[in-house]
Amino acid sequence: MPIKPNLLDLNVRNERLRPEHERIRKSLLIRQPGVDNIPERLVRDYPPGVMSMTRAAWKHRTWHEHQSAAVFSAIFPQLIEAGASIEYKTTILRCAMDEIHHAELCARVLGLLGGEPVVEADLELTPAPRHADAPLRSRPLRNLIFASCMSETIGGALQAAQRELTEEPYIREVLDQLSGDEVLHARIGWLYLGDVWPGLDTEERKAVLDYLPLAFSSIESAMLGVMPLGPPPPADLEPHLRSLGWISGDEAREILYQVIDEVVVPQLESVMGSPVREAWKIRSSARTGGVSAAPIRY
Ligand SMILES: [Fe+2]
Ligand SMILES: [Fe+2]
Repeated sequence: MPIKPNLLDLNVRNERLRPEHERIRKSLLIRQPGVDNIPERLVRDYPPGVMSMTRAAWKHRTWHEHQSAAVFSAIFPQLIEAGASIEYKTTILRCAMDEIHHAELCARVLGLLGGEPVVEADLELTPAPRHADAPLRSRPLRNLIFASCMSETIGGALQAAQRELTEEPYIREVLDQLSGDEVLHARIGWLYLGDVWPGLDTEERKAVLDYLPLAFSSIESAMLGVMPLGPPPPADLEPHLRSLGWISGDEAREILYQVIDEVVVPQLESVMGSPVREAWKIRSSARTGGVSAAPIRY
């Protein structure tokens, strides 16, 4: 099979592995059976400008979902090294497979929007940090706080807002599958934090608390980077974009800060105590910190 650099191709290419691929999808990964009933066309007609904007958004989403699988698979060996219990190991691998499955579902939406299940993109990954400066039990916790408690919790809220607007039944079905999975991806971090934190010693706790300002600053800048503030779309296009789930940069930023203030900070604080809010306050000074940067996921 020829390997083309910088081309994310979501077609199944080897028919001998297709049955196993489908078995995994159907037995493990599908929450919404409707995602396998792909319609031939969208319910409504949309202007060409709306179609091309929406295709571009779903292409980016396809690429992003696919690359996210690497974050969860990088946490798996860290959970082994930290002595995590077995349900965390199975669930983290499920999370990684979910993200590949999400990419496949996004590629189906791309097909419905008149595109191909192929994305030209930079496939090179920024490796998820090892956090070699921290004790073994603090390492996966740092990455789970960033990738699950922060990134997936915020991502889930953004996706829910888009899902509420979407009037295309198949796209809603796909967003339902994605959001159901993202809830689990956030929960694994919250559950792990609650299970592990009480048993950590002072040094292990300090290693996690010291990381928080950098984690907050990284998540904020990564999120803002994909929520550009620009002029609104032309008034005649906006209702069409809305019914395909479009939200503005302003709206996305409001959700971002609301979820951090009302969910992420209080939930972290309830387990880790008052340094959490302080870490959120001083986050901007962490950008030049010496700890390796967290993976950028959204
Ligand atoms: Fe996902
Ligand atoms: Fe996810």
